[in-house]
Amino acid sequence: AGESLVLGIETSCDETAAAVLAGLASDRNAAPTTRLLSNVVLSQIEEHAAFGGVVPEIAARAHVAALDGIIEAALSDAGTALCDIDAIAVTAGPGLIGGLMAGFTTAKALAFGADKPLLPINHLEGHALTARMTHGLAFPYLLLLVSGGHTQIVLVRGVGDYARLGTTIDDALGEAFDKTAKLIGLPYPGGPNVEKAAFAGDGTRFALPRPLRGTARPDFSFSGLKTAVRQAAESVAPLGEKDVADLCASFQAAVRDTLADRVGRALDRFAADHPSVATPTLVVAGGVAANAYLRDGLETLCREKEWRFIAPPLSLCTDNGAMIAHAGLERLLAGLIPDVRAVFAMAPRS
Ligand code: KG4
Ligand code: ZN
Repeated sequence: AGESLVLGIETSCDETAAAVLAGLASDRNAAPTTRLLSNVVLSQIEEHAAFGGVVPEIAARAHVAALDGIIEAALSDAGTALCDIDAIAVTAGPGLIGGLMAGFTTAKALAFGADKPLLPINHLEGHALTARMTHGLAFPYLLLLVSGGHTQIVLVRGVGDYARLGTTIDDALGEAFDKTAKLIGLPYPGGPNVEKAAFAGDGTRFALPRPLRGTARPDFSFSGLKTAVRQAAESVAPLGEKDVADLCASFQAAVRDTLADRVGRALDRFAADHPSVATPTLVVAGGVAANAYLRDGLETLCREKEWRFIAPPLSLCTDNGAMIAHAGLERLLAGLIPDVRAVFAMAPRS
């Protein structure tokens, strides 16, 4: 059989995205051979910046306004038309419900009009499988997903076969970055601004907690860390430039130690459960993976434990249509095609 072509659509947060991916099946656990033909992402960051965070209503309206143009651009960049596509994959949740409805309803209409299978994709599955597209990674492996909405360690065993080993019991890590930035007066989005300020800072100046360190299950907790930053900020107010830099550096140092401890536990557990996997691999995904200091911490951890470390290119770590197209392609190749009527009766879930 020849290559399959999948159109992927993603609208779960503040990126309107579409992509076309071509791919061929491989052996059992190996990744399909893929070619990314287009990947169009429109970020709404500017529309939300004035509010200091993503406003769901604004996001939903912006998706509706942009979606048709983004899908057309993805098809034309790929040199394809809708009639050449073998299946349409669309994010069906989790995410902001207004955006999900915009994307899902559009995908339903396209699938109905062009008489193509529609593949509803879990957003987290998109992140989980991305390294198979970028690095041809075979199952099983571990994924650390750190974004504005999620902080999870996932055991990826196969397509549709995932086990969550750990998760945050309160804030997501990206959210902790964004809230920390806000409370010390740095603009949205907080993550990149905290990272930038931290370069000039002393990470040992403020003693901040390493939440849940040493506990058995590799879970996370970041709300106490954020509170500790607030208290430290109050103790030196009004904040000068040096104080802000030191606070950011101290916050990042606490996060880096916390990740090393929590992820380190998950690596040990995986290694114990999978003695036959010759090169155990950790993949990192999500917007926080953009942070060079944290990435370096994870890389160091993997080197110490003799693990392979994979960080897909940033444009594929943050939300995009290619990861949804890829998850759709894997499902298509595995024959996991849901009944048309069931999908058409389905609604996305936040
Ligand atoms: O994956 P993403 O683009 O969107 C979702 O949340 O799904 O992640 C966005 C999050 C935001 O919280 C942002 O502050 C954080 O990723 N982020 C960073 C950095 N760049 C983005 N956090 C830390 N350091 C960065 N350089
Ligand atoms: Zn995401």
